[in-house]
Amino acid sequence: MRYQRLKGTTDILPDKIQQWDYLLSTVGEIYRTYAYQRIDVPIFEKTELFTRSIGDVTDIVQKEMYTFEDNGKRSLTLRPEGTASVVRAYLENNLHQQGGIEKLFYFGPMFRAERPQKGRYRQFHQFGSEAIGSTDRLLDAELIAMNMRLLHLLGFTDLQLAINTLGNIQCRERYNTELRKYFLKHDTILTNEEKDRAERNPLRLLDSKNPKLAEIIAQAPTSIDILDAESKEYWQELLSLLTELNISFTINHQLVRGLDYYTHMVFEIRTDALGAQNAVGGGGRYDHLIEELGGKPTPAVGAAFGIERLLLLKETYDINWHYDEPLRIFFSVWDSSVRREYLDLIEQLRSAGIIINTDYEKRSLKSQMKLADKFGAHYVLIAGEEEHIKGELLLRDMRAGEQIQMTPAALIKRFTGTMEAMNND
Ligand code: HAM
Repeated sequence: MRYQRLKGTTDILPDKIQQWDYLLSTVGEIYRTYAYQRIDVPIFEKTELFTRSIGDVTDIVQKEMYTFEDNGKRSLTLRPEGTASVVRAYLENNLHQQGGIEKLFYFGPMFRAERPQKGRYRQFHQFGSEAIGSTDRLLDAELIAMNMRLLHLLGFTDLQLAINTLGNIQCRERYNTELRKYFLKHDTILTNEEKDRAERNPLRLLDSKNPKLAEIIAQAPTSIDILDAESKEYWQELLSLLTELNISFTINHQLVRGLDYYTHMVFEIRTDALGAQNAVGGGGRYDHLIEELGGKPTPAVGAAFGIERLLLLKETYDINWHYDEPLRIFFSVWDSSVRREYLDLIEQLRSAGIIINTDYEKRSLKSQMKLADKFGAHYVLIAGEEEHIKGELLLRDMRAGEQIQMTPAALIKRFTGTMEAMNND
């Protein structure tokens, strides 16, 4: 084989597309009931948008971005996530001037040069939601409720919600200072890169997968100890709203997430069924990102989910997604020279939403039946020589194994409910 797909990328073949469509249409359906509207943003942006948003000293920016120089010598990056681009679009298109808050959702491919493994890819897909413009905790609680409802509706009934708070930006700074002191006390076991992180962004040392650090990470100070009154009040109100919404959660003070823009609430939705890649989604509040990217101070909250991970997870559950499958008819004609006499009939059936396929290679009737089978036809419509002479067609019900002869007008009536005039000349 001369060309193969790149490591960490996947081909989504037609037999999987139905699942994707179902998942994404359910996302749209549920998100719209919470008044979120869809937005589409570009797949690449100026690199600086991501370094500013996600943070210079993070795994994503330091190790995982697909960055390249274009012909104009600009540094561009394939988006590793969607939040930064949505915020950019919010500011650039003056969505804030519309008054009220903006609730936006999106989906599409994201790119991270991670080491590929089950559930972890270099091109993967997310759907995400961002609510921009309010500090109301109900927005945080609703965002979680919306996603839990979505996952439940999809059949994922036993996922765990882990939640934590980093406090407001002052608390987060104080927390960083505490962590810096703590990690630098243990600097003898830190690598040079880890020492650099301890100096510049100690919060991100908590994401480290280095087993040698596991113990000191487990004993590191937690943000809950340094919350001020405002942050405590925010946290308590959020937890009580979640309880009122009947959402079960586990408070996990080790959870800090790998991106720098969060303040107050961070959360992850996890599963035990996917091994190391246990987060199917996550998010949190980011009250300072809009300002950081040049806007007026504007609070916001959001989340994103990994589509491949959810589809992998589906395989471990006994879930059946019911698609509204349109009728499929295979049209089979004994002699391709008379095919054109039936074109109008076929088009009329298609305009009623029926999926119709036919033979394009002058195959024998027998091998056309095999094609019909592969196509998953509910019916085969056969224009055989004998029927042709009588001005009729044979309709074979593949599931019931029965067949009847019908005129084209009767066929149209049967499948479209109308007696539309036939134009078969
Ligand atoms: P994230 O936690 O980096 O958050 O990604 C969200 C989800 O995307 C993960 O929970 C996981 O399911 C999926 N994901 C991430 N990396 C990969 C990968 N390499 N392969 C497969 N799936 C992956 C964000 O991206 C934030 N933008 C979420 C957010 C929105 N926060 C506020 N608003």
